[in-house]
Amino acid sequence: MNVLIVIESCFGNTAQVAGAVATGLRSRGADVTVVDAASADAPAAEGVDLLLLGAPTHNMGLPGPASRAQAAAKGGHPVSSGIAEWLELLPGQAGRRVATFDTVAGRGFFSGSAAKAIEKRLRRHSATVAGRESFLVGGTAGPLADGELARAELWGAALAS
Ligand SMILES: Cc1cc2nc3c(=O)[nH]c(=O)nc-3n(C[C@H](O)[C@H](O)[C@H](O)COP(=O)(O)O)c2cc1C
Repeated sequence: MNVLIVIESCFGNTAQVAGAVATGLRSRGADVTVVDAASADAPAAEGVDLLLLGAPTHNMGLPGPASRAQAAAKGGHPVSSGIAEWLELLPGQAGRRVATFDTVAGRGFFSGSAAKAIEKRLRRHSATVAGRESFLVGGTAGPLADGELARAELWGAALAS
């Protein structure tokens, strides 16, 4: 099973989650590639059995240029382009199995969810959604809350089944 995980991450927390999800998938024999949305050439997903997209939640949804600049002003890595831009260039994904994840600093409805926003866009590409998960961080810069990396690994393993 070939899995492509595409992420963006300003402070590294979403990237850590991606690493744990990849570990879970690999534990079930999956062949996993993790790429940063900014460095991924063209959004190609040929030969990919499962496409995972992950991003930090900004302003209740997907990061954009203004929120990324705010993150950088708070000490995050400068991010030139991310999942929103990657998705804009993505061709139709009819029937492709996809799953989305995000990191959130708040719990519940009022945190919003980048993963939900990504899922909505992927549905417009006619993809088949296999799952969506949010992982909690302790504040804007993190760190991830206790147990979240273990939960991410289990989620990855479950996605491989
Ligand atoms: C500009 C900005 C807006 C944010 N808005 C939200 C939000 O609406 N809901 C939320 O739960 N977290 C919000 N956060 C916190 C992010 O979710 C947190 O920085 C992120 O999960 C860390 O992931 P990263 O290390 O991959 O960047 C915001 C952070 C920034 C910088």
